[in-house]
Amino acid sequence: MEIKYPLVLINFKAYSQASGKKGLELAKVAEKISKDTGITIAVAPQVTDLALIASRVEIPVFSQHADAVDPGSHTGHITLEAIKDAGATGTMLNHSERRIRADQVDFLVKKARKIGLVTVVCTNTPEVTAAMAALGPNMVAIEPPELIGTGIPVSKAKPEVVLGSVELVKKVNPDVKVLCGAGITTGDDVAAALKLGTVGVLLASGVVKAKNWEEAILNLVKPLLK
Ligand code: G3P
Repeated sequence: MEIKYPLVLINFKAYSQASGKKGLELAKVAEKISKDTGITIAVAPQVTDLALIASRVEIPVFSQHADAVDPGSHTGHITLEAIKDAGATGTMLNHSERRIRADQVDFLVKKARKIGLVTVVCTNTPEVTAAMAALGPNMVAIEPPELIGTGIPVSKAKPEVVLGSVELVKKVNPDVKVLCGAGITTGDDVAAALKLGTVGVLLASGVVKAKNWEEAILNLVKPLLK
């Protein structure tokens, strides 16, 4: 599935508010708003819900993680092949809550490209962002871990981290798209992120924990409407 930018990627993490049937419900709300507005909204459910959600919505679905192993005797691992078979569009890698080594990112980005999966590599500083961009993922997502879940948006609290990442990625590998995340909860936060040169946002609690998912997502995408 071709990803059109700007992109709003909603990470369901392991929140009980977005697992199982509730995860499918939230994915359907995201799909409806994406269809109504034409804005690309993607979801990253827990791996246990990946196949079900990917089979029931027509928006991009991402795994939250993948393991750097080939299919075989690797109990409890999540292979790229299994993610692809589940119908996902791609996978996040190296999220601050699920860090992997750089050589594992390299293995996964190369293989994902080969088998047709989109990769979003999460990073925490401009320098790490540049290093990960050099490995050739489709996207990097700069997320200072200390802002995650705080509601303090990176695009306003640490614009220099976002701008620095955008500028370094342009130098290292201009084909790699830059998202930013952590604390993003409002349309203003999204507009600030785009002003800093990113092509979208990665977020979780601002939507998953919202009382009204539809309202929360519409608020986020408002600044993206033509
Ligand atoms: O993957 C995005 C996530 O780490 C950001 O969390 O709750 O600050 O949107 P949150």
